[in-house]
Amino acid sequence: MFTRSVSLAAVLLFIPMLVPAAEAQEFGNAARGRAFAAQICSDCHQTEPGNAASPDSAAPPFTAVAKTKGMTAMALGVWLQTSHPTMPNIKLKPETMDDIISYILSLRPNRQ
Ligand code: HEC
Repeated sequence: MFTRSVSLAAVLLFIPMLVPAAEAQEFGNAARGRAFAAQICSDCHQTEPGNAASPDSAAPPFTAVAKTKGMTAMALGVWLQTSHPTMPNIKLKPETMDDIISYILSLRPNRQ
C-alpha cells in the first residue's frame, strides 16, 4: 500500500516534465535559437537549413537531427542535459535550451 502511494507521487511529479513535449511549438523562440546555435553549436554542427555537411563529420547537421524519427522536445532536452563523450558538456541556460530546441524542431520538414 505504501509502495503504491509512493509510485503515484512519482508519476505525478513526472507529468509536468511531459508538458513541454506536448507543446513543442509553444515554448522557446526559434529565431533566437537559430542565433544561439550559430554561435555555440556551429563549430561542429551544420546549424542552418539545407543539405550542407557539418564542419565535424561526426556531428549530424541539425536538419538531420530534426528529421530523426521520434525526435521530440523532450528527447532533445534529455540529450542536451546529458553528458556524452564526443560533445563537450555545454551548459545552457534553460531558456537558451528551449530556444535551440524550438529552432531544431522548426527544421522538421513537415513544419516548414
Ligand atoms: C565540439 C563539437 C560539438 C559541439 C560544439 C556541439 N556538438 Fe552536438 N554533437 C557532436 C557530435 C560529434 C555528435 C554525435 C556524436 C555523439 O552521438 O556523441 C553530436 C550530437 C548531437 C545531437 C544528437 C544527434 C542525434 O541525432 O543523435 C544533438 C541533438 C546535438 N549534438 C545538439 C547540439 C547542440 C544543440 C549544440 C550547441 C548547443 C551542440 N550539439 C554542440 C559535436 C558537437
